Amino acid sequence: MNNYQQQLECCRTAADYIRPRLKKPPKIGIILGTALGSLADEITAAVQFPYREIPSFLQSTAPAHAGLLINGCLAGQDVICMSGRFHYYEGYSFAQLAAPIQLFKLLGVQLVIITNAAGAINLSYQPGDLMLISDHLNFMGAAPTRGPNPEEFGPRFFDVSRVYAPDLRLLAKELAGSIKANLHEGVYAYMTGPQFETPAEIRALRTLGADAVGMSTVPEVLAAAHCGLPVLGISVLTNMASGILPVDAPISQVEQIGNIAAADLATLIKGVLAALP
Ligand code: HPA
Repeated sequence: MNNYQQQLECCRTAADYIRPRLKKPPKIGIILGTALGSLADEITAAVQFPYREIPSFLQSTAPAHAGLLINGCLAGQDVICMSGRFHYYEGYSFAQLAAPIQLFKLLGVQLVIITNAAGAINLSYQPGDLMLISDHLNFMGAAPTRGPNPEEFGPRFFDVSRVYAPDLRLLAKELAGSIKANLHEGVYAYMTGPQFETPAEIRALRTLGADAVGMSTVPEVLAAAHCGLPVLGISVLTNMASGILPVDAPISQVEQIGNIAAADLATLIKGVLAALP
């Protein structure tokens, strides 16, 4: 299984394949989470790369994930967008989960927008709301950069205290009025899944300061911090987390509510893009 340095070498091969085929050298990288892929349809002047055609790249196995890398223009910005992401529960190592970020960095991206579907832990949140990620809890041992460190790519030890860039969050909050959904700001707890959490785990995570829980994002954010990319992270809260309501974890709600809230998420992201220099 690849470590971070080996994965970076694979991404160099992938980047060498993609670079001459780009329509617009991208400044912004976007990762779209479960059921949130519709934004990708709005990218204009686009060129698409199915993951299976990109040499040395990972293959997406999750349902509701398209498996496409798309380069083009969105709200006036040159972007590269991953419609379909990779999760630890699919069998990848944490190092492999860094691949999208490594690829973005090698293609010249300067900022990443990462989205996900998440369960709400904060009792004042509702399904269909959005949450700007201000910080995360990672008790999964997830460290994509473990192993030999490619110094030319990023330092061995690195700061993650401001990786969810405060200025980008401020900008997103200024745009909250343009969407129907409530926009919160809170702490995302990472659980690797694929099982949903137990009610006891959710109570514990609430006690520890989590506002939402999900099975993605943190490995990518750690990789972004390593190579110095600022992150805007946004969760679509598709359900109340386990044990909050007197029902089983509403797994079918994830896609259903995700599809509805995707419109607000798209409006918010396009607003942020339009406001960036
Ligand atoms: N738990 C974990 N991941 C999730 C959830 C949840 O409740 N909802 C959407 N993704």
